[in-house]
Amino acid sequence: MRFSALIPVVFITASFILAFLCLFAGSKQGFLEDYAVITWNTSRIGYDVLDNSDSSSSSSGLTSIIDNIGDEIGDSIEGAINDVAQDLGIHDFYSAHLMNYCEGFYTPAAIPNATVSKSDIHKNVTACSNRTAMYNFDPQQIIQKELNNSVGSGVVNLVNDLNWPEDITNGIRALQVAAKAAFVLYCIAIGFIGVALILAVVSIFFEGRLSALLNMLVDWLAFLVLGIASAIATAIAVKGASVINKYGDDIGVSAQQGNKFMILTWVATGLLLLASIVWCFDCIAGRRRRVAEPKYNHSRY
Ligand SMILES: *[C@@H]1O[C@H](CO)[C@@H](O)[C@H](O)[C@H]1NC(C)=O
Ligand SMILES: *[C@@H]1O[C@H](CO)[C@@H](O)[C@H](O)[C@H]1NC(C)=O
Ligand SMILES: *[C@@H]1O[C@H](CO)[C@@H](O)[C@H](O)[C@H]1NC(C)=O
Ligand SMILES: *[C@@H]1O[C@H](CO)[C@@H](O)[C@H](O)[C@H]1NC(C)=O
Repeated sequence: MRFSALIPVVFITASFILAFLCLFAGSKQGFLEDYAVITWNTSRIGYDVLDNSDSSSSSSGLTSIIDNIGDEIGDSIEGAINDVAQDLGIHDFYSAHLMNYCEGFYTPAAIPNATVSKSDIHKNVTACSNRTAMYNFDPQQIIQKELNNSVGSGVVNLVNDLNWPEDITNGIRALQVAAKAAFVLYCIAIGFIGVALILAVVSIFFEGRLSALLNMLVDWLAFLVLGIASAIATAIAVKGASVINKYGDDIGVSAQQGNKFMILTWVATGLLLLASIVWCFDCIAGRRRRVAEPKYNHSRY
């Protein structure tokens, strides 16, 4: 029995669970919703455009909706109490996970005020899309679809009426490619972690430097793949949020990077590195033992 193998078994098991959670977080309504890769906050979408349209004589689609729907939206915007998204029939937030997205409203309010502080605001998920491998998260399309449903098809066009920035559209395209790569790498990584786990369990019963070496290599490979997947996911979260916050300000759209997701994925990655380091020590110690045993008399120790 090699009891030192129990340490990597624990590390690899933990890593396996965490990597699995990265992939499946948010895939059902209310399941680890806080672990989104990136969350779009559209609660104030078009706020400035709508606000200005009061005084301007623009005849854009959005202005005509306000005329049509009447004072309801105008009042709430002037009061800046309700969130614009809800008035327009879309959601406050859209959170991207690796296999689906969720949407919902901020509760108790989207915008912090004197009585509701930022830490009091929680996401209330109303729906999640079906779990799909290699899916495309396209908030522009989702929002446009919801607008069509709420105010009528063809009445509001995000690009024309809200001046949806082209930079965001291009950013979405780039992130979609990265997200697919990340998804594939997470799947491969989970496969490697599974193999590493089986090897580690087997190595509890079969001692030897060769098995330690093999374990080390497989763990390291899993670490490498999960590390690249984590790096891509981190890039999506950080770069995506910065692009949206930079260009989305004018249209009242912001984004938040998924810090909890990043912690999850990097802890899973780090555990694999630790496991491979333990195997590395095991390998070196095995060599020492082998060299030492015939040379020295155990009774001296
Ligand atoms: C959502 O965005 C608006 C404006 O972009 C901001 O005032 C508000 O604090 C954000 N809400 C949350 C919960 O992040
Ligand atoms: C803050 O928002 C909450 C929820 O919408 C509302 O009930 C409350 O009256 C607001 N407080 C102030 C001071 O506007
Ligand atoms: C969350 O949303 C559901 C349905 O939209 C609603 O019934 C529920 O009261 C909301 N929860 C909170 C805490 O606001
Ligand atoms: C999601 O899955 C359910 C059941 O599997 C199905 O009825 C529904 O049509 C699917 N929704 C979409 C948008 O694909």
